[in-house]
Amino acid sequence: MPERSPGLIERYRPYLPVTPSTPVVTLAEGWTPLLPAPRLARALELPVELYLKVEGANPTGSFKDRGMTVAVSLALEAGARAVVCASTGNTSASAAAYAARAGLQAVVLIPRGAVARGKLAQAVHLGARVLEVEGNFDAALRLVRALAESERLPIRLVNSVNPHRLQGQKTAAFEVCDQLGGPPDMLALPVGNAGNITAYWMGFQEYASHGLIERLPKLLGFQAEGAAPLVRGVPVAAPETVATAIRIGHPASWEGAIKARDQSGGVIEAVSDGEILQAYRAIAAQEGVFCEPASAISVAGVAKLARQGYFRGGETVVCVLTGHGLKDPDQAVAGVPEPQVVPDELSAVMEALEGMLA
Ligand code: F0G
Repeated sequence: MPERSPGLIERYRPYLPVTPSTPVVTLAEGWTPLLPAPRLARALELPVELYLKVEGANPTGSFKDRGMTVAVSLALEAGARAVVCASTGNTSASAAAYAARAGLQAVVLIPRGAVARGKLAQAVHLGARVLEVEGNFDAALRLVRALAESERLPIRLVNSVNPHRLQGQKTAAFEVCDQLGGPPDMLALPVGNAGNITAYWMGFQEYASHGLIERLPKLLGFQAEGAAPLVRGVPVAAPETVATAIRIGHPASWEGAIKARDQSGGVIEAVSDGEILQAYRAIAAQEGVFCEPASAISVAGVAKLARQGYFRGGETVVCVLTGHGLKDPDQAVAGVPEPQVVPDELSAVMEALEGMLA
């Protein structure tokens, strides 16, 4: 019997703000792999039971699809003709895909020259109209919020300030519990605009209130050192980091992130670009999972906490890998040696292999 992948609205319908008459716009997102990562834990000397939640396995290669299936379904139901967002790249790719599937126009505002090329290419191919703003993400978000508030155009804002986005994204917390057979002790994730950490906390609390889990995990949020407003306690005017997805100086869900940290008894810490890139390479080399730099910060952050003696030992820790490594091809090839060239001869290939396997 062939099994159709239902997408997360069907899987978690009772928990979502949809009705039987809502048109479901889905690309069969969600139910992404939760992989044990013992080799990575050993290599980085993490004294924990480590898992990777591979959100790059979503249809457009990032966790944004969770929020977008809900937000675009409800935008369609409400009669919007277009969806609009500001984005460091992944939200725009996801909005473009779900808009295409719904027959809506997507319009995306991106910070000039600061979006990874895979994400921009996706948005364009998926039919989005792209505007490059001469400013950073925070400026682009201010503009789309003002656009949506003016109510002059039949558009729906699909940034995470749209509560439907967080409703969809909270399903990731449900999945982690369902896949693990209970909540982890801790869940680590990158924090940019801070919608995702807010959504995870909402999801865990909701599962607890339904009696589906008996305790709540600590949330461990990480920001890049050059873009760490939540760690510093003040907005950052000119955020800078190799992890372009989280190059954000004034997160929209600031209070949600602080609440998630404090109510869960977790932390929000800063990690250097060097540590991010080290984790980025280690995750791929040790576990075969290629994620984008912003995603690797979850592992880099856990490694930093481990060095500080944060863990007692044996805790279950889930690191959320939010986006796929191919999203950022420039970063992927930077500093990578050219492949060895061999003649079209078996003996030469044999010799090269002997060298590689030595
Ligand atoms: N990881 C990736 C790969 C992201 O693209 C983002 C955010 C985050 C983490 C942080 O999530 O904003 O909810 O705290 N990307 C947004 C975008 C800003 O426009 O694609 P957050």
